[in-house]
This record gives sequence, structure tokens and C-alpha cells, in this order.
Amino acid sequence: MSIHQPPDDWFQAPHGAERAWIGIALCWCLVLTLMMPYWHFRGKQNSTGEAYRTTPAEFAARVERFVQANTVGEDKGVPVVQPAPGSDCYLQAQMWRWHPVLKLKKDQTYRLHVSSLDVQHGFSLQPMNMNFQILPGYDHVLTVTPTEAGEYLIICNEFCGIGHHLMTGKILVEE
Ligand code: CUA
Repeated sequence: MSIHQPPDDWFQAPHGAERAWIGIALCWCLVLTLMMPYWHFRGKQNSTGEAYRTTPAEFAARVERFVQANTVGEDKGVPVVQPAPGSDCYLQAQMWRWHPVLKLKKDQTYRLHVSSLDVQHGFSLQPMNMNFQILPGYDHVLTVTPTEAGEYLIICNEFCGIGHHLMTGKILVEE
């Protein structure tokens, strides 16, 4: 069977319901486009965009110094680290763990440095559902002020290999 050229009058301008759906889709595209800048300024979970160049080795060394200076306990083999209120704290992402467990005080502000030692990971804080992309080579600084005491889970929501589903961490917030 050969392929034939379509007839010259194959094209028909959209009409009726087809026109309406194209119009609805176009309006919705415009709404979503406008929401992008709107949420950038009004959304409550945007990072400030503060980030610095680093290397995995340099970041790992800073995390290690931070852990050694501030460890107060252990949770299933992971150090529990309590930074001084108002200070810098560190969270390291790697295949497939978040390190260490952070213990923060309610209503205190911290500068949370997050980076990855290997591939891209997704920092997702539950149950708040706050999400940030974590890339190797960048020290992402999030200004964090916990407003409620409790135990928060960190999951990875960017597929990062065979152990992706095991990559969980924890932030503890106390009164
Ligand atoms: Cu880390 Cu998925």
C-alpha cells in the first residue's frame, strides 16, 4: 500500500464545541502562565534563592565538622545534632540517606545548608509538603523557622536510583 497525498480540502477550520475547547485550553494556559510569577512572589515555600558553589568533598567536610561539634544523641545509627539557635546547620543528601538528624528549637531561626554528594535529590518535608531540589555542587541555604513542635520526616522525591524509596531523614522540633 502506498501513501497518498491527502485531498486538498482536508483542512476544516475548528467549529462549535471544538472552538470552545480550544478557547478554554488557551485561557487555562494563560492562567497557569500568570500563576508562575504570582507564586514566586506570594507562595510561602519559595527559597530565597540563596545558594553558593561548593564541591561534594568540601560540603561533606563542613557537615562532618558540624556533626562532631553538635551531636547530642543517636537515632538508629544516625547522629542527632542540635545546633545553637540562630546558627548555621547542615543537611547532606546522598544515595540513599539524609544526614544527620537535626534537632531544632521551635520559633528559632536557622540557616539550613543542604547539598548533595552525588546526584540530584528532592528534599520533601512531611507533613508540611515543602519541596526543594537539591543539586550536587551547590550549597542551598534555606532560612528555617519551625513554628510547631514535632517530628518531621524528610523523604526524597526525585528518583535517585535503586534505593530511592529508602531515602528518608528526620527533623525534630522541640518546644
Ligand atoms: Cu534521593 Cu531519591
